[in-house]
Amino acid sequence: MEKERNLRYYIETWGCQMNEEDSEKLSGMLKNMGYKSTLAREEASVIIFNTCCVRENAELKVYGNLGALKKLKEKNSDLVIAVCGCMMQQKGVPEEIMKKYPHVDIIFGTHNAYKFPEYLNRVKQGETHLREIETEHSDIVEGLPIDRKSDLKAFVTIMYGCNNFCTYCVVPYVRGRERSRKPEDIENEIKELIKEGYKEITLLGQNVNSYGKGLEPSITFADLLRRVNEIEGLERIRFMTSHPKDISDDVIYAIRDCDKLCEQIHLPVQSGSNSILKKMNRHYTREYYLEVIEKIKREIPDVSITTDIIVGFPGETEEDFEDTLSLVKEVQYDSAFTFIYSRRKYTPADEMEDQIEDEVKHKRFNRLVEAVNEGCAKNNKLYEGKTVEVLVEGESFKDTTKITGRTRSGKLVNFTGNKCNIGNLVNVKITKANSFSLLGEEV
Ligand code: 5AD
Ligand code: SF4
Repeated sequence: MEKERNLRYYIETWGCQMNEEDSEKLSGMLKNMGYKSTLAREEASVIIFNTCCVRENAELKVYGNLGALKKLKEKNSDLVIAVCGCMMQQKGVPEEIMKKYPHVDIIFGTHNAYKFPEYLNRVKQGETHLREIETEHSDIVEGLPIDRKSDLKAFVTIMYGCNNFCTYCVVPYVRGRERSRKPEDIENEIKELIKEGYKEITLLGQNVNSYGKGLEPSITFADLLRRVNEIEGLERIRFMTSHPKDISDDVIYAIRDCDKLCEQIHLPVQSGSNSILKKMNRHYTREYYLEVIEKIKREIPDVSITTDIIVGFPGETEEDFEDTLSLVKEVQYDSAFTFIYSRRKYTPADEMEDQIEDEVKHKRFNRLVEAVNEGCAKNNKLYEGKTVEVLVEGESFKDTTKITGRTRSGKLVNFTGNKCNIGNLVNVKITKANSFSLLGEEV
């Protein structure tokens, strides 16, 4: 019993899909070392916090949770506590954590997560307060075991890092410069996934449209999409994130032409105001963005468009914000991740004057969410009466008499249908559109 209990691990992940994927790799390595996962921290003998520093909120949650681990460590001195991820790549943060939370045993960064088994062994052999952060990004490490959460849909990272330096964002500082994986490594990973029964993959990168820079022989993101589309046995391909300044016509045509590429595109606009876009260092204008959207809508019928938007960037006037609202109304997004601007140390925007008061930011945020939801509800209405292809993921959470899945455009559908079809593609007639999901019946 004791031995069994000793071999459990618990991982908590904050932040984006990149972090989720890193956690799946940590999980894969731990399973290879004989550990099993647990959802209860008290049961674990290894606890890992994989952190995010993109916004302040996520950071505060990590600190709160770290404090709470002290009691567990007092009860079980063999417990190993590790903290990793983007926060650890920030100047001064690892030192502060070691000082304020001495019960933490291991701190490592985003570039050396593959060394976790070594760190764990060193700590088990008596090393304390192990801290290893690499500031220079290393080569891409291939072939790590990975324990994925879903057995139907998988994320496949195609590139790491970002070269864009948007003035509000810490990612280029904590994830380093862009590095692309070789297409054959990506293809092999996908082929393995298909053998394991996966049906849908999402290609991941901070800016997938600059995929391939520096690779020999040369390859573009559109080329990669077309190659991945040829892989037999795969049903659906998605990708994120695209930077509007880099998205090429070729990528739009690839979505139009390739049968497995889903009609969905995530194109973060961040703001609808040209002066704010300039201050954000985004390298496109509102007009250019809207042209791209028009092209996408023209070339890809029934496309679903999603975005990221920040409100309350330094210097954002009421007029600037109105520009964002009008853009949201014009595009009529299918969904949007909406964020209140969060000051991040060492980024240029943190030094800018005219930081916006919290109250103003919150009010604008609420107005923005309302505008986004309105567009989303209107788009959902268009589905009523249509028959769409759904990849069935499982029983519906809310109503177990129903099953649930997503359309090619990424819409959540709860519907009456045959549970034997979980894991398969089925046709569903949409009977009713809600604000955030669709209802239907299998046909
Ligand atoms: N404040 C608020 N939102 C931010 N994002 C990135 N940095 C910040 C910040 N400092 C948002 C952007 C990005 C998404 C992943 O997070 O919209 O596209
Ligand atoms: Fe951050 Fe901009 Fe890079 Fe996205 S493109 S990760 S917002 S710097």
